[in-house]
Amino acid sequence: MRQQLEEIKEKTKKVLEENFNSEELNDLKVKILGKKGELTTILKEMGKVSAEERPVIGQLANQVRDELQQVFAEKQQEIKNKELENKLKEETIDVTLPGREMKKGSIHPITKTIMEAEDIFIGLGFEIAEGPEIETDFYNFEALNLPKDHPARDMQDSFYITPEVLLRTHTSPVQIRSMIEKKSEIPLKIICPGKVYRRDDDATHSPMFHQIEGLVIDKNIRMSDLKGVLLTFAREMFGTEQKIRLRPSFFPFTEPSAEVDISCVMCGGKGCRVCKQTGWLEILGSGMVHPNVLRYGGYDPEEVSAFAFGMGVERIAMLKYGINDLRLFYENDVRFLSQF
Ligand code: PHE
Repeated sequence: MRQQLEEIKEKTKKVLEENFNSEELNDLKVKILGKKGELTTILKEMGKVSAEERPVIGQLANQVRDELQQVFAEKQQEIKNKELENKLKEETIDVTLPGREMKKGSIHPITKTIMEAEDIFIGLGFEIAEGPEIETDFYNFEALNLPKDHPARDMQDSFYITPEVLLRTHTSPVQIRSMIEKKSEIPLKIICPGKVYRRDDDATHSPMFHQIEGLVIDKNIRMSDLKGVLLTFAREMFGTEQKIRLRPSFFPFTEPSAEVDISCVMCGGKGCRVCKQTGWLEILGSGMVHPNVLRYGGYDPEEVSAFAFGMGVERIAMLKYGINDLRLFYENDVRFLSQF
């Protein structure tokens, strides 16, 4: 058996001097050292070896196995190196090949408009407040002086989850939430940008759109403060030549209420198709906050007064960038988006 072991060792070493690829080497390794390999077959005869000789032969067998494993490993490495070397010789890299172009993204025009408006209002001392898009009837309507069955609810037909829970139809509920959170402290100056939902769908209305709502509460807040803030906003957003005009309107949560127009961004006020020859474009709703709303928010209408306004971001972006179909904002066509 000793002889057999020596033989297999020598034979294997000799064979390994020849050239192999890694697959052939692996086959050979299995043939010699594998479970049914030659070395294993020899070791099965161990039982026939006499008791005194067994430890010596055992040791020799281990030695042979270790040595062969070592030789195989070395050969394996050698083959690997050779294969890599050959590969490097064959492969050439063309450094003149132009690189793959990385497409640069851009900020969505709606996001861009919101960011711009935020910058303007932060400059005027406002803070940004946010609230949930799934609202309760209380915050979305009731606390805004819109009791159940109030006819003005018709203007804001919504998506209901249960009779008491709905997708918010405007960002005005954030007013109430912020007032309650502020615990009647003054001044409160916030804007609330965010998504809102209504049952509407055409070229100028989408079931989901964005609003920015503003609220200022302090002592002696007057309509002229509202006008000053909105004029500053219009000039920063659309240009220093801008004029604004307030028209009487109705909202249940403001009294008095006003619709605010800016001079037409297309014709500068001369009259054109976009402003329907009026020279004016409506951009937002506003007014002095109704005493009931202040009370719902925990403020005393005898002590403080407030103004609020709310605008549609899509409308602002359409006017600013001359976009005529609101649905373009949501189609994700890069030809449209890459222009911003
Ligand atoms: N919430 C009103 C709307 O969505 C806009 C508005 C806000 C009007 C604040 C007045 C004051 O139509």
